[in-house]
Amino acid sequence: GARREPIDPVRFVSNRSSGKMGVALAREAFRRGADVTLIFGVGAKVRVPTPIKCVVVNTALEMREAVNEHVHTSESHKPDVVIMAAAVADYRPSSVRDQKIKKSGKVPQIGLTKNPDILQELGVERGEERRPVLVGFSVETGEIDELLQDARSKLNDKKVDLIVGNFASDAFDLDTNRVWLVDRSGRQEEVALSYKSRVANRVLDAILRL
Ligand code: CTP
Repeated sequence: GARREPIDPVRFVSNRSSGKMGVALAREAFRRGADVTLIFGVGAKVRVPTPIKCVVVNTALEMREAVNEHVHTSESHKPDVVIMAAAVADYRPSSVRDQKIKKSGKVPQIGLTKNPDILQELGVERGEERRPVLVGFSVETGEIDELLQDARSKLNDKKVDLIVGNFASDAFDLDTNRVWLVDRSGRQEEVALSYKSRVANRVLDAILRL
């Protein structure tokens, strides 16, 4: 789901992602017998089977720390697959005020700083290795051509194996989604509008093919 990047103790910058796609992926992977850890933002309504380990994070930096902790672990616990379905905030406020900003003062200017790209860091670190399989999402508001082009660029830029492209209007806060799967072998596939649980299974099938 969405991250929350604080501005002051009562306000934050965020986005419209609900986290439902990530939760569906966690549930369906678990149903297939995977050992699953779900790292999610506080906005997500999470109802998952108890054996799924859940880690709550607020910000992109917290998510990066949690992801790295789970990836850089002992050989026997290293994940086979990392799926980044989270709508990680690309930017965070450059400074966080200790006290609530009052409206009696001047209109505040909120400067932004770029957040690290967690998935890209994993792709670069993995280098020539085949594991973990890395899966990213890409969200568009334009046309299908742009979505596919964006997905292909992300495959290369982030050095990952599979990108799940979708439109914000099909995905955000809904129980259904329509996606395009683009993988590093050049394969491209559309998954027609369906419940996120079915979409999740198609994503997992595509991962198995890799
Ligand atoms: N991602 C990440 N860390 C970030 C931003 C994104 O790990 N700081 C991951 C997301 O979880 C997702 C993919 O990278 O899997 C999305 O990439 P991004 O470049 O942010 O794509 P869009 O959100 O589609 O944005 P844009 O096309 O504007 O770059």
